Amino acid sequence: MSNREEKVHEMVKEYYSEITNKKGGELASSVCSCASHCIPDHIKSIAAELPDEIVARYYGCGSPIPDQIEGCAVLDLGCGTGRDVYVLSKLVGKNGRVIGIDMNDDQLAIAEKYKTEMSQKWGYSNVEFRKGYIEDLKSAGIEDKTIDVVISNCVINLSPDKHSVFSEIWRVLKDNGVLYFSDIFSDRHVPSEINTHPLLLGECLGGAMSHDEFDKLIKDIGWKDYTVVSSHEAPIHNKEIEDLVGDIQYTSDTVRAEKAIDATSGSGKKTKISIAQPHKKKSCCCGSSGCCGK
Ligand SMILES: C[S@@+](CC[C@H](N)C(=O)[O-])C[C@H]1O[C@@H](n2cnc3c(N)ncnc32)[C@H](O)[C@@H]1O
Repeated sequence: MSNREEKVHEMVKEYYSEITNKKGGELASSVCSCASHCIPDHIKSIAAELPDEIVARYYGCGSPIPDQIEGCAVLDLGCGTGRDVYVLSKLVGKNGRVIGIDMNDDQLAIAEKYKTEMSQKWGYSNVEFRKGYIEDLKSAGIEDKTIDVVISNCVINLSPDKHSVFSEIWRVLKDNGVLYFSDIFSDRHVPSEINTHPLLLGECLGGAMSHDEFDKLIKDIGWKDYTVVSSHEAPIHNKEIEDLVGDIQYTSDTVRAEKAIDATSGSGKKTKISIAQPHKKKSCCCGSSGCCGK
């Protein structure tokens, strides 16, 4: 890890420890929270069964929780206090499993605290939290081709080494496994003065990729294609931050990218297993005037 990467990790750790330990746990802008109101009803009702301490520290910017995941092995990159992990735990069922990875001790401590309570609530235990960096999943013990679905909610923008993140995702996904993630995207390349600003970085704006940057990155690694499942405005609602980012426009997008490998069955026919499909019913989303789901 370079000095710069180490510095970004430390800055982001400090940022999330500070907000996690705050009484209400709120971020400085609505970028990572307003968009999270675009969640389908069936996810909302599962989330309503989670402990308040977890829900109050949910910093996702979308709903990267696809349909058709029963029995799957799911990995959540940057799981925070575990909101998506526990929702996924219910959806994959007792034959599936969910691993959440995060580098922040304070957030992982909250996630871990509720493991027994949640396994009693769902009636089985299929969740594991591991401390680690999303750029180096090998050190966190995630082996090659062991994961059906990798999800991530508003985290990849925070990484100083996105090439390693996507390369690791490619490595750990099984053939035809799916990357399904929500993140903040910018409408242009984000200049270095914004990219290195601790507040803008922590609020998921500094490290955002443009779609061109993302497209090049994942195609260089091996993905042939991907789908932008949803895209909507990511309102900031903080004058100081709005002034700092100037004209840059941000959206919160959910992307599905399959590690498409055509397998040939004994009969010579090509077979393809399709998991982790987008939820069909559209849900209410946010705009600059606020969140309709709030
Ligand atoms: C905006 S929060 C989102 C948390 C969670 N996904 C949620 O929806 O509540 C970003 C999370 O990513 C974690 N994170 C950021 N960069 C990371 C990295 N390089 N490796 C591991 N975790 C990282 C932070 O510690 C934090 O918990």
